[in-house]
Amino acid sequence: NRPWDGLRVLVTAGGTREPIDPVRFLGNRSSGRMGLALARAAARRGAEVTLIAANVSLPAPAGVRRIDVRTTAELAEAAGAEFDSCHVLLMAAAPADFRAAEVASGKLSREEGLQLRLEPTEDILAGLAGRRAPGQTVVGFAAEHGSDAIPRAREKLTRKGADLIVLNDVSDPAIGFESADNAVTLIDAGGEREVPIASKGEIAETILDRVDSLRRPGAKSGLY
Ligand code: CTP
Repeated sequence: NRPWDGLRVLVTAGGTREPIDPVRFLGNRSSGRMGLALARAAARRGAEVTLIAANVSLPAPAGVRRIDVRTTAELAEAAGAEFDSCHVLLMAAAPADFRAAEVASGKLSREEGLQLRLEPTEDILAGLAGRRAPGQTVVGFAAEHGSDAIPRAREKLTRKGADLIVLNDVSDPAIGFESADNAVTLIDAGGEREVPIASKGEIAETILDRVDSLRRPGAKSGLY
């Protein structure tokens, strides 16, 4: 049973690292597990899957084409080259929001001291969603905490031009990051749906089911 036969799916996973000097970087705690689970689930449905992996130490699922990147600029370049030929983008990676404005060419020593000037990185998801063609489905992720997590994620849906935002509540230490489990809220133009704690594989299936229904004509309202 391969319902996604003929579908090309682009998944980004992991966290980017922005160099400070030849041995140091700014990074984040994304392990890539959620993106890998999505890649595996899409491949099992018969899709042709490309995975752009940012510093992911885990192996890619069988049958998935893997492109390794390190920085947000490399991720932006790889995603930009792959995006036009995909039907579905699952932007699960956590690109760093800032990079060092200048990267030291030699290792900085403690005696010298360090003052970092940061500059924002490009918003890859917003850029890709802004140039999408009809028939392309764009899924973003949002890591939020606190009581206004849902309105903030809904604002991201609009601001970034995504069809669906998968909200992770990062205030709960039992889920997310290195964990095998996750709990998310799916947010799109049709409403919101809480997906209770489950393995990242099960969460991935629920996300792909939602992508499926969003890709059906006339699917945008009243589904929840
Ligand atoms: N994202 C991206 N490029 C960036 C930062 C984030 O494409 N430079 C994508 C992530 O892959 C994710 C979505 O945007 O799918 C939301 O990421 P998040 O870090 O929550 O949003 P930010 O853009 O950082 O928004 P803010 O800092 O306002 O919370």
